[in-house]
Amino acid sequence: MKNPFKFGTIVEDEFFTDRVEEVAYIKQFIESENHLVLISPRRFGKSSVVKKALRESLRQSITLNLQNVTSEADLAAKLLREIYKIHPFERVRQFVMRFRVIPTLTTNPITGAIDLSFQPTENPNVLLEDVMELMDGISSPDNRLVVVLDEFQEIISLSSNLDKQLRAMMQSQKNINYILLGSQETMMTDIFEKKKSPFYHFGQLMRLKPIPRTDFKNYISTRLQNCIKNEVDTITNQILDFTHCHPYYTQQLAAQIWQICMLQPASDDIFFTAIQQIVEIHDLDYERLWVNFNKTDKSILIKLAKNLPIQGYEHKTSTTYSALKRLQKAGFVIYTTKFEIEDPFFCNWICKEID
Ligand SMILES: Nc1ncnc2c1ncn2[C@@H]1O[C@H](COP(=O)(O)OP(=O)(O)O)[C@@H](O)[C@H]1O
Ligand SMILES: [Mg+2]
Repeated sequence: MKNPFKFGTIVEDEFFTDRVEEVAYIKQFIESENHLVLISPRRFGKSSVVKKALRESLRQSITLNLQNVTSEADLAAKLLREIYKIHPFERVRQFVMRFRVIPTLTTNPITGAIDLSFQPTENPNVLLEDVMELMDGISSPDNRLVVVLDEFQEIISLSSNLDKQLRAMMQSQKNINYILLGSQETMMTDIFEKKKSPFYHFGQLMRLKPIPRTDFKNYISTRLQNCIKNEVDTITNQILDFTHCHPYYTQQLAAQIWQICMLQPASDDIFFTAIQQIVEIHDLDYERLWVNFNKTDKSILIKLAKNLPIQGYEHKTSTTYSALKRLQKAGFVIYTTKFEIEDPFFCNWICKEID
């Protein structure tokens, strides 16, 4: 039997739950001429919710994760490669013929995958300009292309002034809807909310929350019902208390519990065993992470893990605050209704291992 829970990559179909309002909102939004900025911590379901909205809207779209882009020229090449995936060669060729630098295109004879690159140039800006113009040109007012740029905050570190240049190029496009996703709250807010930023008020900001408890409870209990039977309600509540409804960790823990039910049905405390097994798998990673934190970070993480007040006598408020910001930026801490450790299993490890 197949595990009814899935964690890691984008979820669709039977693995996707809730987000009804969000999907409707995104679908309605891309019908307008506006752009959308979607922010949440990592693995909250941004990619999944956007994919579902795009599938339902039947709009043509391309998606690119800026974390996998290494330079401005690479950005231009990867955008163009995505265009080739959705558009007939002949149509794109008309535009590419007018490019100032002609790209090299190769097709893998076995997989059929397209690889595309530009000759090194002193001015990669023209590559991006030409590709951006092409994207607009192949779209039309009644067939607007949706361009999804994931981990958009990376634009800042890709090359200096790229944000300014990209914004100027987007300004002259007429037929594109952008959906910009980001998991680094502070950087994303700086990009879209700071007056000096070229992307100031570029689009509508939307924040994705954890999945509502009632819905997640229903999703989990119907899938665990057959293997746990009379304890299903208690275990589902234990899972959600532990993960605070974080989409990824909830699916991970539920998947582990399901697996134990299948393989070790005689286990005493299934919930506890599942947590122990997951923490054990990550023990070495957690230890490596831990030794690299400085003293302030460690003390904050311990307090968060043990639910103690963060502000103690040993650090100045400003020191605590900047450490929290740093930990948040690196993804170890998230802010939902309060600051908390992002990974509940790491949190469990800290409670147990660090005294
Ligand atoms: N709507 C959903 N229903 C159930 N699980 C979800 C949902 N959205 C996300 N998840 C869980 O979270 C994981 C990460 O989702 P993803 O869309 O990749 O997040 P992000 O793009 O924010 O990093 C998925 O693999 C899945 O386990
Ligand atoms: Mg994603």
